[in-house]
Amino acid sequence: MTAGQAKPAEPAVADGLQERFDATIARDQRIEPRDWMPEGYRATLIRQIAQHAHSEIIGMQPEGEWITRAPSLRRKAILFAKVQDEAGHGLYLYSAAETLGADRADLTERLIEGRQKYSSIFNYPTLSFADVGVIGWFVDGAAICNQVPLCRSSYGPYARAMVRICKEESFHQRQGYELLMTMMRGTDAQREMVQDAVNRWWWPSLMMFGPPDDNSPNSARSMAWKIKRHSNDELRRRFVDMTVPQAEKLGVTLPDPELRWNEERGHHDFGTPDWDELTRVIQGDGPCNARRVERRRTAHEEGAWVREAALAHAAKQAARTARGAAA
Ligand SMILES: [Fe+2]
Ligand SMILES: [Fe+2]
Repeated sequence: MTAGQAKPAEPAVADGLQERFDATIARDQRIEPRDWMPEGYRATLIRQIAQHAHSEIIGMQPEGEWITRAPSLRRKAILFAKVQDEAGHGLYLYSAAETLGADRADLTERLIEGRQKYSSIFNYPTLSFADVGVIGWFVDGAAICNQVPLCRSSYGPYARAMVRICKEESFHQRQGYELLMTMMRGTDAQREMVQDAVNRWWWPSLMMFGPPDDNSPNSARSMAWKIKRHSNDELRRRFVDMTVPQAEKLGVTLPDPELRWNEERGHHDFGTPDWDELTRVIQGDGPCNARRVERRRTAHEEGAWVREAALAHAAKQAARTARGAAA
């Protein structure tokens, strides 16, 4: 283009790209990083994947606090492995966000500045070792309900990351349930610890699925793009139906007087979570929000030398390779 020549007006989207994207979604095929995608789709995915990654990383804290206090070497090894798995999930997910052009350092910055969210559930305290079991059973169980459908999400790297994550989550759920089974076979005091943990975690676990459908503004668009496959309420119902028989087998009571089987619907009826509490926790006013973010910030700052060392090492290696090529 020579100087003075008017720049031709660009069409908003090059011909056929939107149509090709829509057709790929309609055929239930995957969108891959190099494919054209609408900006809204990209932004929605980055937000969802980043929140998911942050949840995995922050989610290491409530249980991580029990590693040094685990009651046996076996329980310590199991808990260590589980918390380490969550770190791995975070890393896959940050990598998936990077395929969309997000910058991991920027995402971490957003998390510790409170500009990006993570799952509300990790803002509750872990008061006894039974909480480790109940988190495995409820929280990893809820994660499975949420994430199994994401294995069919329309964005390739996200869907593929979910396949491995879900396999590990189901191990997490079983280790939690096995721990609770063991405690329920123990003393009265241990059984009371389990029941107390169930009472504290039940409602926050139901809230993990997000606000009710009539108050979840982004859901419809995510479902149309097949990023999300089921609504919040639908997933919550599935979780309740899955968990009630497990509670019976374990011998604990779920703290909801309205919970009962509805023969006609073929599902359980259950009470309404305290949505005001969910709003408060999401907005930063849960029992442990400040502590969780502060801990993450400290870990990030204390890890700066590791990142710097890795970068210096990579630069040295690249220089060595360049020298070798030039010789
Ligand atoms: Fe996880
Ligand atoms: Fe997990």
